[in-house]
Amino acid sequence: MDQSNTAVTISREGAVALVRIDFAPVNALSRPVRQGLLEAARELAADASVRGVVLHGGPGRFIAGADIKEMDLPLDEPILPDVIAAIEAIPQPVVAAIDGVALGGGLEVAMACDLRIATPKASVGLVETRLGILPGSGGTQRLPRLVGTAKAIELIGEAKVLRAPEAVNLGILDGIVEDELLAEAVRLAPGAAKRVVSALPIPARNEAAEEAAAQAAIKKGKGVPAVAVVVGLLRETAAMDFPAGLKRERELFLPLRASAEAAALRHLFLAEREAARVPGLEGVKPRAFAHVAVIGGGTMGSGIAMAVADAGLTATVIERDEAAAATCASRLRDAYAKQAKSGRLTDAVAAERTARITPTADWNALAEADLIIEAAFEDMAVKEDIFRRLDAVAKPGAVLATNTSYLNPDEIAAFTKRPQDVLGLHFFAPANIMKLLEVVRCAETAPDVLATGLAFGKKLGKLPIVSGVCEGFIGNRIYAVYRRHAEYLVEDGASPREVDAALESYGFAMGLFAVGDMSGLDIAWAMRKRRAATRDPGERYVAIADRLCEAGRLGRKTGSGWYNYASGKAEPDPAVDAIIAAERQAAGVTPRAFTPEQIQNRLLAVMANEAAKILEEGISLRPSDIDLVFTNGYGFPRLKGGPLFAADQLGLRAVLAEVEAAAKAGGVGSEPAALLRELAEANTTFKEWQRGRATPG
Ligand code: 3HC
Repeated sequence: MDQSNTAVTISREGAVALVRIDFAPVNALSRPVRQGLLEAARELAADASVRGVVLHGGPGRFIAGADIKEMDLPLDEPILPDVIAAIEAIPQPVVAAIDGVALGGGLEVAMACDLRIATPKASVGLVETRLGILPGSGGTQRLPRLVGTAKAIELIGEAKVLRAPEAVNLGILDGIVEDELLAEAVRLAPGAAKRVVSALPIPARNEAAEEAAAQAAIKKGKGVPAVAVVVGLLRETAAMDFPAGLKRERELFLPLRASAEAAALRHLFLAEREAARVPGLEGVKPRAFAHVAVIGGGTMGSGIAMAVADAGLTATVIERDEAAAATCASRLRDAYAKQAKSGRLTDAVAAERTARITPTADWNALAEADLIIEAAFEDMAVKEDIFRRLDAVAKPGAVLATNTSYLNPDEIAAFTKRPQDVLGLHFFAPANIMKLLEVVRCAETAPDVLATGLAFGKKLGKLPIVSGVCEGFIGNRIYAVYRRHAEYLVEDGASPREVDAALESYGFAMGLFAVGDMSGLDIAWAMRKRRAATRDPGERYVAIADRLCEAGRLGRKTGSGWYNYASGKAEPDPAVDAIIAAERQAAGVTPRAFTPEQIQNRLLAVMANEAAKILEEGISLRPSDIDLVFTNGYGFPRLKGGPLFAADQLGLRAVLAEVEAAAKAGGVGSEPAALLRELAEANTTFKEWQRGRATPG
């Protein structure tokens, strides 16, 4: 074996050979690991002095699967199926000793062994569909031989990760070892029976169970093409012998690996890891946040308190008086009771979480809080009053956060004598469900306060994304431009239904006008009225939404908005057509037709353009963070990877041309960003730009 390969090393204990994989950070099956495993398998197979083999990944690790970073590149020899075939061909018994995770290709390797033992905290799963691919190294053929076809459809189709005890129950693992996993593996290896999984028959099939598992997986798969493909593959190959099944798996794996959807999902996987890296915070320790307080127990405040309780922390919710506190308490009880009724939680867990939240009107309760999140009415005078009071009661070093969406958190911080302790934590409704959390760094936010915001978000199971201060932060600022341009398209000739249909066929669950109706049109209307005096007269203003609101059409809650809801569904409404026609006439517009593709490209381009401005201003650290904001907070289709990944795919020259057209339609505020122009002229991408920057921000 190549001695310079430190990714895979062999040591001996008597007649047992221990093959150790050691490749930071997670023992992915990168080229050196595949090469090392192949050489080790061949060497040991030919070594008559070896009576058993143990395959392991060192303490706390096994194998996290194929190397996701290699998947944008062509396949490189040795390919994983060949490595796995070589492991399975070792004539001596091979034991997989699993501590940590055996995911994707990691479990495929383990299933090529004769015996699989694991520590109680180990977990296993064929999770490839999360990345838009399917198990491509025999996983779709070996797993059904262990658990049956219907169960394999469920596990692979839903990308389930199983804890070791459950995997033992299903027969994926052979046993759990509490202590001294390696010693036990060494003890078992020489005498273990050869049990070649690929030679096992597939257990008797159950058509009804397969059908039910297939339907459930496809439903949960949210349109990821790989899910339907793998479900079909599992059913098709269940009647084939192993070599034929393996061949079919490969045929379907390769095009998925090369697909645009898989590239988008990989991009998002890596983007999530990247988002946690914030320049300047290396080694900075977050402050404590065991006890959280929330100011305001309305919909947002209650949702935040639930997110806190769901994460096992305690929350005090401050309401303006005891009656409001009681209302909040009953809202929380109802919300948890509903979750228990739907089967999402047991009654006991629901009761436990309810008990972790204490609504009260007593501000003295704040004295103990480590982190206080203001979620009160969006009005600067209200915020001023709250932050002045907080400054008086909060303990020294407590982190003070505002959940404002539109007000300036720097101004809010200035109401205290401790602006270094203040930051924005912008949750998205419903706050206990939505994954996105914008962590807003104010001018004076201390590094450990920002680190606390990020650590707190992570503890809540959220995806925290750092934003600087600007109107609307990253998400709402870009969304506002997107909405404005959708309204230009309508005034220029598209119908709201056409715009929504184009967005839905692009992959959004709901079009933008339908979303507006669902959230209610009045909040944006009030904001437009407030800003009317300061609006730049050079910016094109479309008054259709104002006319709808003036006519009492505030969205779903009033039975009509951009659509009519009399039938219970969103239906186009002649009254809206008449309003649009009148506005077009008033604006002197001759309506023209737009194809769905024109609508999609225009709206994508204006989002990318505003995003480029946000990057230029240093509001966002990197393009991939913006992609995460949109895919996690605004329904942008994950299969498109986010607006900047999608803009890269369209080509930034085409995007710039669209933005130039949009600028003619939109006037002031719609001009192309210098960064977009620069990247388009250099014929490069946002991704390349991100990669090339030594220090983001
Ligand atoms: N390939 C390359 N890098 C990977 C990786 C992988 N499969 N899995 C994780 N990493 C990297 C991450 O990018 C991150 O890198 P960074 O430190 O530079 O940011 C580092 O490992 C740590 O990852 P996490 O931050 O996610 O660490 P956690 O401890 O929270 O989670 C994990 C570890 C459970 C392994 C999680 O990373 C994970 O779920 N990874 C993906 C596993 C997966 O999807 N495997 C299947 C791959 S597809 C496959 O195997 C195809 C086959 O069938 C042919």
